[in-house]
Amino acid sequence: MSQLTGLACIRCGASFGIEPRFDGCPECRVQTPANLTPRYDLDGAARTLSAESFGDRPSDMRRYRELLPPDVQDAATLGEGGTPLLHCGRYGRRLGLERLFLKDESRNPSGSFKDRLAFTALAMAKRFGAKAVGVSSTGNAGAAAAAYAARAGLPCIVLTVQGAASAIVTQMQAYGAMVVATRTKADRWKLLQTGVAEWGWYPTSPYFGPPVGSNPYGVDGYKTLAYEVCEQMEWEAPDWCVLPVAYGDAMFGMWKGFEELAAMGLIARKPRMVAAEMAGCLSAALASGHDAIPEIAAPSPYVAGSISVNQSTYQALHALRASGGTARVARNDELLGLQRDLAADEGIYAEPSSLAALAALHRLCEEGRIARSDTVMVLNTAGGLKDTAATAAAAPGIPTVDGGAARFLKTLKDAYGYDAGI
Ligand SMILES: Cc1ncc(COP(=O)(O)O)c(C=O)c1O
Ligand SMILES: [Zn+2]
Repeated sequence: MSQLTGLACIRCGASFGIEPRFDGCPECRVQTPANLTPRYDLDGAARTLSAESFGDRPSDMRRYRELLPPDVQDAATLGEGGTPLLHCGRYGRRLGLERLFLKDESRNPSGSFKDRLAFTALAMAKRFGAKAVGVSSTGNAGAAAAAYAARAGLPCIVLTVQGAASAIVTQMQAYGAMVVATRTKADRWKLLQTGVAEWGWYPTSPYFGPPVGSNPYGVDGYKTLAYEVCEQMEWEAPDWCVLPVAYGDAMFGMWKGFEELAAMGLIARKPRMVAAEMAGCLSAALASGHDAIPEIAAPSPYVAGSISVNQSTYQALHALRASGGTARVARNDELLGLQRDLAADEGIYAEPSSLAALAALHRLCEEGRIARSDTVMVLNTAGGLKDTAATAAAAPGIPTVDGGAARFLKTLKDAYGYDAGI
């Protein structure tokens, strides 16, 4: 049975019922806008749950039904969650790490971690009488919302940027979403805000600034990342969790998952969270010691478009502070090289944003902040097939050969340095 009790403010703790509140805490709004988050009766959950409770359950997110809203039981599912945790021995050696693991979220139904958010957010749409799903997105959030709206039989409107023409936009259209572009983010947000206030639209993304993060029920879905990782590590948390971060929905959600497991006595210690960011808002906020998140322009052109936002959120800062974690800024010019190395070392082709996490990890290892013996988890939020243009532009040309074996072997040697040894 679900142990959901209501919503609470991440910053001041003000509590609310199980309500459609998507614009953050009214108490904190004036000073530091902060998101709300679902609260559960963890003592009640702890009385019925133990490490053994999960053993014979299905691997999708409903495996953790007590710790999700009751609505997930009858929600539209595509089998989200249950993604593999892969040991990366060869790449780990580049960093001097013996225990580097990658949680591969590209295996989700629409190809990214956003399916966890979309599943849990959409699960609540019926209760709140949603007429349509509305999302402001240039990428994975839009694709995930479109997929789950289709599955739930709801119309979906995706507000995106002008000129967006990646595989992800095609994916949104394939799911039947109404994709409309605006010139600015402010325009997208204003239209979505009107849709929410006046047309019965149900938002799954941020839609006003300063942003507080996404739909709190959706963000709560990300805590299953922590549950899965701990289960996959025999009920131990890693020492470090490194995530590519924009609004920090996933990082906050995952951190909350560790906190809940610790509160229920299912893990003995919690990890430190690391934000890999492009603009540096969280690094600046941590350095300032204040709760406000400064606006900083992300460097363009955006190689890691999914995380190139100009302002992160208080929830992300909270996860970093509460976990004793930190933030590091990734550079555009290092992402594609890391993408090639990871793919060649481990057979994992990651979306450029995910490589920001490896860039941050390299920095922390060089600084000696992360020790050789530490256990590190990196979140691969989406796969490289979501956006192949940058990889293709940096890839070498493909040589052509005729049928001759000798010339073929010479071409392999000349183009790729491969010696067949004959
Ligand atoms: C591939 C990818 N990684 C990371 C992020 C950042 O997610 P969050 O806003 O939860 O920090 C996004 C957001 O769109 C994304 O698409
Ligand atoms: Zn508050």
